[in-house]
Amino acid sequence: MFVVENMIVEKFIARNGKIVVLRTPRWEDLDDLLDFINSLVREEAPILGTREVSRIEEAEWLARRLVSVEKGEMIYLVAEVDGRVVAGAEINMHKGHKSHVGTLGIAVKNGYRRIGIATKLMEVLVREAKKHGLKLIVLDVYENNYPARALYKKFGFKEVGRVPKAIFWKGEYVDEIRMALDIS
Ligand SMILES: CC(C)(COP(=O)(O)OP(=O)(O)OC[C@H]1O[C@@H](n2cnc3c(N)ncnc32)[C@H](O)[C@@H]1OP(=O)(O)O)[C@@H](O)C(=O)NCCC(=O)NCCS
Repeated sequence: MFVVENMIVEKFIARNGKIVVLRTPRWEDLDDLLDFINSLVREEAPILGTREVSRIEEAEWLARRLVSVEKGEMIYLVAEVDGRVVAGAEINMHKGHKSHVGTLGIAVKNGYRRIGIATKLMEVLVREAKKHGLKLIVLDVYENNYPARALYKKFGFKEVGRVPKAIFWKGEYVDEIRMALDIS
């Protein structure tokens, strides 16, 4: 891994032989990120968004994000394959008495899963979170999101809470699980 100004870059070969670049996002990623989020919405992925977003909405979202990254309020990485962004992962830093805590989010585009991209993104995020002085990473996951739960378990996240029926997904109520990883 090497750091160029604000851009953290890591390159690795995925399990399908493709070269994957992990880097901080840039404004030119807008159309890829738009395509990415809307592909997740269309497949009814277990994420909170349920409505496809417009290019303007995505542009506003990306602008806010780039400012947050610049201000050090979040760590946000994208994964690029063949010049297209196919995954994103972030840690949002909390404030005040919770400034040692960050909330993690991650998603990989359908068609690029099971080749180790999330694993690498998580490795880099945890490493960066430690560098930023975070002590605890938390996240929320749908009870029936087995791929994500397996991923988090692999990194040592523990289930620390559960809100019954917090999610309505694909026609049924699903529990939401809170997981935490102590990185102190
Ligand atoms: C969860 C997700 C991020 C995993 O990404 P990925 O790049 O496919 O994950 P990896 O290839 O790095 O796999 C990492 C581990 O996750 C687990 N995993 C991933 N996909 C899995 C699946 N379909 N079934 C079971 N376990 C799975 C395995 O433990 C795997 O480790 P292994 O390869 O050593 O078996 C991806 O499936 C995704 O983006 N899903 C939709 C969005 C989402 O659910 N985000 C999380 C919201 S909380």
